[in-house]
Amino acid sequence: MKMKFVIQNSIKNKLMLGFLIVVALTGVSSIFAGYRIINRGIIEQAYESVRSDLKTAQYIYNNRLFQIEMTLNYIGTLDYMSRAVEARSLSFLQAKFIRLKDWIGADIIIITDSKGKVMLRVNNTGFYGDSALDIQCIRQVVETLKPSYGSGILTRDILAKEGEDIVDKALVKVIPTEMGRHITKDHEDRALVLNAATPMFSDGKMVGIVYGAFIVNNNFEIVDRIKNLVFHSDDVTDYSAGKATIFLDDIRVSTNVVRSDGHRSVGTQVSSKVYESVFDRGEDWVDRAFVVSRWFLAAYTPIYDTNNSIIGILYVGVPQERFDKIKNNTIKYFLFISLITAVCAAVIALYLINRIVKPINEVVYASDVIAGGNYSKKLRVFRESELSHLSEAFNRMIDAIFDRDMRIKETAHNQVAQSEKLASLGRLAAGIAHEINNPLTGVLTYSSMLKDDLAGTEYVDDLNVIIDETLRCRKIVKEVLDFARETRLEKEHADINKVLNGTLAILEKHVNLRKVKLTKIFAENIPGILVDVNQMKQVINNLALNAADAMPDGGELIIETSFIEEENSVLISFKDTGAGISAENLSRIFDPFFTTKEPGKGTGLGLAVIYGIIERHNGRITVHSIQNSGTEFIIKLPVG
Ligand SMILES: Nc1ncnc2c1ncn2[C@@H]1O[C@H](COP(=O)(O)OP(=O)(O)O)[C@@H](O)[C@H]1O
Ligand SMILES: [Mg+2]
Repeated sequence: MKMKFVIQNSIKNKLMLGFLIVVALTGVSSIFAGYRIINRGIIEQAYESVRSDLKTAQYIYNNRLFQIEMTLNYIGTLDYMSRAVEARSLSFLQAKFIRLKDWIGADIIIITDSKGKVMLRVNNTGFYGDSALDIQCIRQVVETLKPSYGSGILTRDILAKEGEDIVDKALVKVIPTEMGRHITKDHEDRALVLNAATPMFSDGKMVGIVYGAFIVNNNFEIVDRIKNLVFHSDDVTDYSAGKATIFLDDIRVSTNVVRSDGHRSVGTQVSSKVYESVFDRGEDWVDRAFVVSRWFLAAYTPIYDTNNSIIGILYVGVPQERFDKIKNNTIKYFLFISLITAVCAAVIALYLINRIVKPINEVVYASDVIAGGNYSKKLRVFRESELSHLSEAFNRMIDAIFDRDMRIKETAHNQVAQSEKLASLGRLAAGIAHEINNPLTGVLTYSSMLKDDLAGTEYVDDLNVIIDETLRCRKIVKEVLDFARETRLEKEHADINKVLNGTLAILEKHVNLRKVKLTKIFAENIPGILVDVNQMKQVINNLALNAADAMPDGGELIIETSFIEEENSVLISFKDTGAGISAENLSRIFDPFFTTKEPGKGTGLGLAVIYGIIERHNGRITVHSIQNSGTEFIIKLPVG
């Protein structure tokens, strides 16, 4: 029971261990691969989303520009406005535009004549008559007679003409930061503007230009709208939300990126890396960027003026920790799923392993039972089980073992019976032979004496018959005594090949063997064995003479020796080409007095004697015979 338990456990443990190693290896590699895929996937996704956020931001920025441009274009189509400009009805225009300025959310409105000479500054009615051609948009309308709009830069001089409050509105103090560019100025007094100029026509003739500008500096309308629409956040101090910034040149002039003190980081600079990409190469820049105080996944795109020169940058960025959070959650989820899968796999494996181990256990158990001699224990043959073959084979093996066991028992039984038969017959025969031997000696003595006395008479022939027959009787009696006598073996070390050679040399001259061809096949590696040489000679004589008797018309007798290493025994074979033995007689030839020879020729004791001798040598003699073809006697003698 303990053994069974140990076997079961070791198989189970090995299977379990092997399986767990496989699960662990695949688990670790899939987690590793999964981690990389998730990581890359999320980062790609993140950049993709930042890119698309930038497009939306651009759209919102442009939309603010269109608001101004479209309103001015609409005014340009109004006849009464054109006529007012043509007639220079300044107080009318001033009254109209002061309201319009608020309506379109413009900071500056200027009306010029068709040459660009200022007719009316809505912010500063007292200052006019100067040229406004230093404003790019206005110059373009003068040159092309078509509306012009876009981003632009207004210098401090232009702003100053609008009044001190406008200069102040645009003024940005430059603040140094760790990652910012090397500072070249301590403040920015120019204004980044969204501006538009539209020509006014009267009777097909350009009579003037209306110009409007929206100052981006320090105005957070656009960036906050982007933050609101794109990142769904109203709170400037929400650090985890996405951010937007508008740069004039390299300075943040409008932003909702907040410094650690909670203030918007207006006045800080862009990093040189981004500046070079956007300004020097005119390329969008999408990457991780350290903005003011933290890492962002950031996207920057150039802002062009109406002359297609880059004057600023539009930026959107999402704090990296947002994606880190998504990434971590995804990885946690992935790990959780992996763990659950591994646990499920282990449970399934345990079930399968049990299914495999169970029949093996039964085999082990059945083996124990069978080893105890109970052959009735059969294994269940599991249907659909991979191990059904094993069970079937095992059951076949039990049957085979059972058969062999029975055969061995039968042979042993026969042997015992044969020995007992020989022994009792021997005792009986010896008794009779003793009783006969003495009278026979008397008969022989007296008939010899009578023969001498009656020499020359007619009785001599009869007396010769008596003497011959008495001698024959004595021979039989001697044979019986030989058979019966359990002589002590006088064992000596002998080379069986030598014993055979010596005996056969004498036998060859025997009359009966004249027509028989003797073939000897002797192995050379035969170890010496302990035998009673005289008795062995008797065995050889008897076998050879029997063979000769079976071949009255001649034939071949092959005598072969060999050494069987695995049995550590010497084999001697006598094989003839004689008459063979019928199946019926085969089982009786070792019986004493069994003979097929005519009376007077055989006593039927030869093989019985041989059997006894071989048995006393702890050897075995067996016979194979095919009728009309030949017979082989095989003797096996143990070495040592
Ligand atoms: N080599 C043989 N070929 C054929 N039959 C044999 C051979 N050896 C023995 N026998 C058979 O076995 C019988 C018994 O032999 P054995 O005991 O030597 O007695 P016997 O030779 O006196 O008959 C023989 O009568 C014969 O029928
Ligand atoms: Mg014989």
